[in-house]
Amino acid sequence: MTFEVKKICCIGAGYVGGPTMAVIADKCPYITINVVDLNQERIKLWNHSDLNKLPVYETGLDRLIERCRGKNLHFSTKIRENIEEADMIFISVNTPTKNKGLGAGKASDLKWVEGCARDVAKFAKGHTIVVEKSTLPVKTAEAIKIILTAAQKSSNSEKKISFDVLSNPEFLAEGTAIKDLEKPDRVLIGGENINAINSLSKIYGNWVPKNKIIHTNIWSSELAKLTANAFLAQRVSSINSIAALCEKTGADVREVSKAVGTDSRIGCKFLNSGPGFGGSCFKKDILNLVYIANHFGLKEVADFWENVVDFNTFNQTRISQLIVKKLFGTISGKKISILGFAFKANTNDTRESPAINICKDFLEEGAHLSIHDPKVSSLQIEKDLGIEEQKTTQSNLASEGSWCFKEKITDAIEGADAIVILTEWDEYKKLDWDKVSTLMRKPSWLFDARGIISKINIEKTNLNFWSIGDGSL
Ligand code: UDX
Ligand code: ADP
Repeated sequence: MTFEVKKICCIGAGYVGGPTMAVIADKCPYITINVVDLNQERIKLWNHSDLNKLPVYETGLDRLIERCRGKNLHFSTKIRENIEEADMIFISVNTPTKNKGLGAGKASDLKWVEGCARDVAKFAKGHTIVVEKSTLPVKTAEAIKIILTAAQKSSNSEKKISFDVLSNPEFLAEGTAIKDLEKPDRVLIGGENINAINSLSKIYGNWVPKNKIIHTNIWSSELAKLTANAFLAQRVSSINSIAALCEKTGADVREVSKAVGTDSRIGCKFLNSGPGFGGSCFKKDILNLVYIANHFGLKEVADFWENVVDFNTFNQTRISQLIVKKLFGTISGKKISILGFAFKANTNDTRESPAINICKDFLEEGAHLSIHDPKVSSLQIEKDLGIEEQKTTQSNLASEGSWCFKEKITDAIEGADAIVILTEWDEYKKLDWDKVSTLMRKPSWLFDARGIISKINIEKTNLNFWSIGDGSL
């Protein structure tokens, strides 16, 4: 038996809620989907007639929005009405790491999830399946269930309400979200009531092969999500640790990665060294694991995972320090061109981007940064760096660090002492480095923290070159 789902309400119109609902709407035209959010500005952008203004940039997202918006996909701030009418509610709100109080710096702040659960408890009618979609610590479903059960018990006979809670973690990676949603490696559904599980499976069954839809108990589903991200992050830290060793020993990390990745037990993905992992999930999920492990008295387990995050921070500092050292130990008053601010290519997201810490280190050293990113706005960079943009060009002698945003790569590079590539955008791979070097102040440096530029392309130029993990330079 399955419950018939005709109306879905998704609470939270962010990086997860927006793309996920766009794909479900596209694949299930018989379901009406209402995506709601407290943030009016965000909803306005989701409804913008210019699809370039969507609040989330994802390849292929605009095409889906164009196809479904106003038909079976709607964006609004009408939280109450849409909860009331929904057969199924997805909770896709933000769960950042707590910055104060119990568990500060490690545990996720669940106030938004709790707020949602309370709204659902207050407004839902009849039977509702509640699906947790945000990345959440293990046992969050229990908290949601307790709030909903309390509402269920106190509901009177005219307004009899009941709930099922499912965990259905998202595995979409930003930049490839639509592809990941349309062709997932697996869909994970954790829960107790098989009818509720089947109802959600039926929705995914419209485009995902049955053998890729995995059913587990609710806690396994929650923990599997954290574990998947922890394993991926650990691979990035592992290869970055080897990159540092390559630089000292004359090895090249790309060659090492290739050789190691051909072992089918290891596999070739997530072995690119770089400035460190960023994004909203990896650090947060590992810190959740650390928090839970400590909570259950498993200190060694907690320490094991915490090292992965600590190493990631070390890697960022390692890069900013080696750049300062190569530039004669001082970058005060020097112009440094930063290419890329997003935490990875093909997204406008800067959450936990290594560029933030690296740029802060440079500003602290008194550098003048000219930052380029094809998708990140100067407003976002201002928020992340916590320093106002200096629109007029700083004199080289000014010792206070400053930054400005440049729309064009050539403007960002002009007169720079050094270029630092922090995000692997395709357009940086295609630059004519001979031409670039003529725009810079001599002696000029190129620091490729993503390892995307081949040294053959630099050999003919008069650029000094450093590339992550390349000990032959
Ligand atoms: C991740 C998970 O992949 C996804 O399944 C989950 O649901 C959300 O978190 P995301 O954070 O969007 O997705 O990006 P991902 O592609 O996993 O990259 C994370 C970070 O690792 C980025 O900063 C990226 O640059 C870095 N990375 C990734 C590397 O440095 N090297 C690699 O080889 C791969
Ligand atoms: P994610 O990457 O997990 O999607 P985002 O921060 O991009 O996270 O999006 C989460 C969205 O959830 C935000 O737009 C925020 O305004 C919204 N939100 C948070 N709490 C609530 C709530 N109680 N009701 C509706 N929307 C909420």
